[in-house]
Amino acid sequence: MPYVTEKTLTDVVSQRWSDIPNPRLKQVMQAAVKHLHAFVREIEPTQAEWAVAIDFLTRTGQMCDDKRQEFILMSDVLGVSMLVDAINHRQASGATPSTVEGPFHVADAPAVANGGNMAVNAPGIPCFVSGKVSGVGGEPIAGAVLDLWQTDGDGFYEAQRPEIEGPWMRGLYHSQPDGSYLIRTVAPIAYTIPMDGTIGELMNRTNLSHMRPAHIHFALDAPGYHGLVTHLFRSGDKWIESDAVYGVKEPLIVDFRKMPAGSKAPGGELLNEPFYVVHYDFVLERKAQAAAA
Ligand SMILES: [Fe+2]
Repeated sequence: MPYVTEKTLTDVVSQRWSDIPNPRLKQVMQAAVKHLHAFVREIEPTQAEWAVAIDFLTRTGQMCDDKRQEFILMSDVLGVSMLVDAINHRQASGATPSTVEGPFHVADAPAVANGGNMAVNAPGIPCFVSGKVSGVGGEPIAGAVLDLWQTDGDGFYEAQRPEIEGPWMRGLYHSQPDGSYLIRTVAPIAYTIPMDGTIGELMNRTNLSHMRPAHIHFALDAPGYHGLVTHLFRSGDKWIESDAVYGVKEPLIVDFRKMPAGSKAPGGELLNEPFYVVHYDFVLERKAQAAAA
């Protein structure tokens, strides 16, 4: 083995990390060595700067737990989450586009009946979201699971409300036999990504916006169809063009139509306060059929 110099080091390391039986791991590690070395060669860090980088990553990991995910946030603000999403969801034309999951999804949301309220006791303006779930061919999809999560009307997710016991601003709905669904919630508002961690520390040293435009998260799942993780964004939001995590896609921007007090809500109830109405039809892509035996 040659002894290393600054010039030969990358080749020596790359050669050693080629001795990996799993071809995919080998490919990943070859690319990791190549690009990491190129990055370090370009920025030429001092040893003190490298120690800062290690400390930053260490503290980022230490911030993570079952509800807080600072590494996902890092991936989001660097646009990597959206790149991974784009590579993995080259949807058929006509299917609803996907977008980032983000750091706030909590598994096992409570089931809510069609038309039921997933924002009981939450602050905010009532908001009804309805539409249907269908396949690219137009066929209605019954029994699709719609897993929703969002901020309350003050801009906080469950993970940001440690004082509240139990599920907050999330619910599992199911599409009806005709593919339709009806959700009652409160209107989400634009919010800042969490700024009390290492990513906030970094963002505060830039002029980048740390705001996300108002949105509702959806994860749809139906047998025989590709799952879909996406958001619906509120049109006209001040931050719609500068989303801190690059998640906005044009087909996901929807009108939140304001209705005056005394109007009949979708589902038939008369509301004595103003509310919003949102309509969106989700289109899922069918999985490829297994080859006939
Ligand atoms: Fe969000």
